[in-house]
Amino acid sequence: MNFGILGTGVVGRTLAAKLIELDHSVVLGTRDPAKTILKSELDGMGNPPIRVWLEKNSKAKLGSFTEAAVHGEIIINATNGVGSLNALQIAGEMNLNNKILMDISNPLDLTNGMPPSLFISNTDSLGEQIQRAFPNVLVVKTLNTMNAYLMVNPRLLANGDHSVFVSGNDTAAKAAVSKLLQSFGWEDIIDLGDITTARGPEMYLPLWLRTWGVLQIPMFQIKVVR
Ligand SMILES: NC(=O)c1ccc[n+]([C@@H]2O[C@H](COP(=O)([O-])OP(=O)(O)OC[C@H]3O[C@@H](n4cnc5c(N)ncnc54)[C@H](OP(=O)(O)O)[C@@H]3O)[C@@H](O)[C@H]2O)c1
Repeated sequence: MNFGILGTGVVGRTLAAKLIELDHSVVLGTRDPAKTILKSELDGMGNPPIRVWLEKNSKAKLGSFTEAAVHGEIIINATNGVGSLNALQIAGEMNLNNKILMDISNPLDLTNGMPPSLFISNTDSLGEQIQRAFPNVLVVKTLNTMNAYLMVNPRLLANGDHSVFVSGNDTAAKAAVSKLLQSFGWEDIIDLGDITTARGPEMYLPLWLRTWGVLQIPMFQIKVVR
């Protein structure tokens, strides 16, 4: 299947590598491909520039947000939450309509430093804002509650015995996303309900960030015990 991933950070790269391993075709989207490919510095988390990553992952293609959206039968939003609506607007509504959009973004506000606060919460979520802005896109919020490496390899922790959430208005879209998550190794997939339920996973981020601060490692996860 063809995937368009909006975002060239660690989430976009990690999802792209896994999808290619599973024989899918991936275009990673960025605002300005010519500028992005010339970057030579490490990012804020110490990740190498995308050029280095592309040399090691030669089946992945870099393109504009629009090219990624045109390529994708399923689109993944792996952009910074502050820029997600802008990225999707650049990608183009007509290139997104009637497609599944897996939304992994978080509404983190870093203007006052660490730990960030949320710029949307309580009565709204970024997932809902995206769904309202693109009413004909099948938005499914998922995977935003964990470190990127766990997203595609839940067995890195507790033999995979932990939980991932999906939120969205379209039952078939959530089923398709759940099937994809199963192909990554996920077993405990909890359907929270419509897109308004994205508020919960997004509002978990303040707890995730403080747990990270205490543990000093990002490899931990939610397990819903019943
Ligand atoms: N890092 C994790 O482990 C993790 C875990 C869970 C959820 N998340 C969420 O996943 C998303 C991606 O995280 P990340 O760490 O991979 O990368 P990131 O640094 O948060 O985002 C990188 C991408 O955001 C795009 N972007 C930034 N500002 C933009 C703007 N104003 N307009 C359009 N695009 C913009 C960049 O585009 P250019 O390529 O053009 O610069 C880049 O491709 C975030 O929302 C994050 O909160 C991350």
